[in-house]
Amino acid sequence: MSRANICMPCRLAAIAAVMGCTAAAFAWTAGWLTPKRVDAPHIVNTFESNYGIHAGLRRNHAKGLCVEGEFESNGNGAKVSRAALFAPGETPVIGRFAIPGSNPSAPDASIPVRSMALLFQLTDGEQWRTGMNSAPVFVVRTPKQFYQQLLASKPDPRTGKPDTAKLDAFFSANPETLPFRQWLKAHPPSSSFANTAFWGINAFIATDTDGNTRAVRWEMVPQSAYEAESADQKRNADFLADDLAARLAQGPLRWHLVLTVAAPGDPTNDATQQWPASREQIDAGTLVLRQATPQRSGACRDVNYDPTILPDGLKPSDDPLLAARSAAYSVSFNRRMQEEAALAHAHGEAQQ
Ligand code: HEM
Repeated sequence: MSRANICMPCRLAAIAAVMGCTAAAFAWTAGWLTPKRVDAPHIVNTFESNYGIHAGLRRNHAKGLCVEGEFESNGNGAKVSRAALFAPGETPVIGRFAIPGSNPSAPDASIPVRSMALLFQLTDGEQWRTGMNSAPVFVVRTPKQFYQQLLASKPDPRTGKPDTAKLDAFFSANPETLPFRQWLKAHPPSSSFANTAFWGINAFIATDTDGNTRAVRWEMVPQSAYEAESADQKRNADFLADDLAARLAQGPLRWHLVLTVAAPGDPTNDATQQWPASREQIDAGTLVLRQATPQRSGACRDVNYDPTILPDGLKPSDDPLLAARSAAYSVSFNRRMQEEAALAHAHGEAQQ
């Protein structure tokens, strides 16, 4: 039968069925099909109930800015992955720096973590999207724990801050959170996005040209030397954006993309654990960032940095956070895009 002979409602029904199966598969991998259901809309609703709805903005990592530049591959990454990105050459990048949390007005010094999200636009039309944080491990291992932590972090209406007793109770009930908390204690927050290392944290599966597969993780290692945030900076709620603008006015900023290759048996489904420091590392090239723009007008605004959008040569591992991230980012993205369209419409009407 030719494609023209398939009726339109049947086609739509088929597409809906495939999408439904994919969503169900994601929900299953993420461990959400449990009697007490914790799904992506519940997670995003909880972000919203904690710090309100800020139309057009991301439900997590709400405060941020867009950056642009390119990735200069040196060819070394091809040892583990056949992704076009790892062949020698340049790939344009649309990125975003942010701080976690749902409050777009949070003072920078109130959050100890920074994030870098990147979209690599490959020449063959494929994309690689990644969202990385400034710690090598994640605070929780499962989507359910992530949800429980969000509930425990709800600001107390009297103080506007999370109730420390509730958070402490969550941490004691979830000892997997210890490596992250210990890491934060030992690493004071950085003075700049530019001197921060960013980790992809979740494991991925790399396939080389011969079809061999290996589990990998990645890190962006800054060329600028780390410094802790200063007392002066802490008085400026937006010091990270101001510092970035000042540095970019002097010239581009650089990071090395370093792949860590797992040994057989290293866990791929536990983002709270680092692999041993002795694992092979591959410097795959240099990320060069040249300009920053506000997120309301920049190229990153309409990007969903879903970490499961990967080129041939990379695929998700069995880490349950990956499927959960993909589903939650999609809900957040759809809500903020609808709001963005409504804002643009209202703006257009106001101008008529
Ligand atoms: C179950 C676990 C997680 C959930 C439910 C979650 C949820 C979210 C949501 C809803 C967003 C907003 C997405 C958008 O509107 O575009 C977001 C952003 C982000 N998340 Fe997660 N997250 C999780 C785990 C992680 C992990 C493990 C990392 C780091 C490896 C991470 C890094 C980021 C980054 C970098 C952004 C900002 C992306 C940007 O700048 O646009 N998240 N997260």
